[in-house]
Amino acid sequence: MEEKKTILESTLERYRGTAGAGDQQALIALLREVQQLYGCVPTVIQQRIAQATETSPSLVAALVKRIPGLTEAEYRHQITVCTGPRCSSKGGIAVLRAIQDALGILPGETTTDGRFHLETRNCLKNVVTLRM
Ligand code: FES
Repeated sequence: MEEKKTILESTLERYRGTAGAGDQQALIALLREVQQLYGCVPTVIQQRIAQATETSPSLVAALVKRIPGLTEAEYRHQITVCTGPRCSSKGGIAVLRAIQDALGILPGETTTDGRFHLETRNCLKNVVTLRM
């Protein structure tokens, strides 16, 4: 853990003066390096990045949410089950219950090993989420 913190600080130092100077591509590159280091960009690290690069915390948070491949979540896979009317009528709720039983979690929860996070959506028709 201490080693990661040291690597984070040296990474922040490398990007100082570029990522915080309105260079959004540099900020995204910095976020990708942090994602590689931690497997995610947790909120506390986002705050450290914003502070170190003199960037708005809301900009950092927005980039983490919008850039594919970046996540603030500390889980490996997110499972999203549609509970909308069309999918429910075709067995969507049964699928949700089967996943809940198999993983032992409810929607909004993460397995204790941090591998799976379960979410529900009312309709996925216009949502494209791909997280590996
Ligand atoms: S109801 Fe399931 S995708 Fe729309």
